[in-house]
Amino acid sequence: MGRRSVDGSALGASPAWQAEVASISVRFGSRVLEELGEAARELGGSRVWLATDPGLVAAGHPQRARRSLEAAGIAVRLYAEAEENPTESRVESAAAEAREWGPDLIVGLGGGSALDVAKAVNLLLPGGRRIAEWQGLHRPEGPLLPSIGVPTTAGTGSEAQSYALVSTDEGHRKMACGAREARFRTVLLDPSLPASAPPRVAALAGLDALSHALESLVSTRSNPISRVWSLAAWCRIERALPEVLAGEAAAEVWGGLLLGAHLAGAAIEQSMLGAAHATANPLTARYGVPHGAAVSLMLPHVVRFNAEADPGLYADLGSGVALDADPSRRTRSADSLAGWVRGLASTAGIPECLAAAGVPETDLPELADEAAEQWTGRFNPRALDRAGALELYRVAWPPPGERPAPL
Ligand SMILES: [Fe+2]
Repeated sequence: MGRRSVDGSALGASPAWQAEVASISVRFGSRVLEELGEAARELGGSRVWLATDPGLVAAGHPQRARRSLEAAGIAVRLYAEAEENPTESRVESAAAEAREWGPDLIVGLGGGSALDVAKAVNLLLPGGRRIAEWQGLHRPEGPLLPSIGVPTTAGTGSEAQSYALVSTDEGHRKMACGAREARFRTVLLDPSLPASAPPRVAALAGLDALSHALESLVSTRSNPISRVWSLAAWCRIERALPEVLAGEAAAEVWGGLLLGAHLAGAAIEQSMLGAAHATANPLTARYGVPHGAAVSLMLPHVVRFNAEADPGLYADLGSGVALDADPSRRTRSADSLAGWVRGLASTAGIPECLAAAGVPETDLPELADEAAEQWTGRFNPRALDRAGALELYRVAWPPPGERPAPL
């Protein structure tokens, strides 16, 4: 298990690895949003283009952000049209508007989509390239603008990442478009923001964050540093999420979840994700199943699928759901981990199976074709080909009572 251990004693046996550490300045604390103006000044900003989503205007968060910026003597242009799953044409028209305004600093305030729009616009501002040409990780020809990310949900961890997720106009396939320079220089983590999100939004975001911690931990791209972040994320999310789903979370619990989601995002930056995301994305694209619901529906099946090939895969988790130290019992422990995740998903009202989510059984082969094409599936610890994706969909489709017995 030296390959995955975070224990320094095992590192000598590990293959060589490379990691990036700490290039984001993080400010954490309740009401830290009020420090946005000061943070913008630190980055030399005097003219800010602020991307947010329309739902947040009703909650008053963009107005708070604007007040803080204006109090610091900074001019603000608000763009409140960052809707879920931003498309190519949407981010390109947003960039055209931003170019006209001529900002010297970009701020993204919102869930993953607003942060994605902020990053995509930063990539596009210099002009000359379409967003699709930024797919993958690139080096920009010239400097990009400094930027600040303020997540309002504890979920995607997008504020820690170099990539903007943008959907193609046709077919709504997700592209990860990125450059290290597009990553936010400063991140404000304000637990009062996710605490004020609608419960359903918070639940789906939290389940997504949980899946990020688990998938990034075992990804083939993980390294000893990313695994430290995945485990630190896991410990916080594992503790906080049940309380958030029960509607009983105190301020410090929201803080734990927000920090956990951020750390999981930092882990993904290095280690990518796996089969739960690869099989979830087609469910979102075809049937509109929200991302957090699709991922948490598939994740328990992926945990069992992965553990079947490597029973010790999740052994580093250690806390809370207490995986067995005895290797011969670890497969059963992975099964209890899967059951625990499923229990949380049920508490959040996530359908128990694909049939209940409205997926016709006859679509499973086509879904498997699409899942096998997903970039993120390449990093799953157990190779995910079309046959593997179909196996996962087949076991996830029928109601639990009609499934073959778990491992
Ligand atoms: Fe996700």
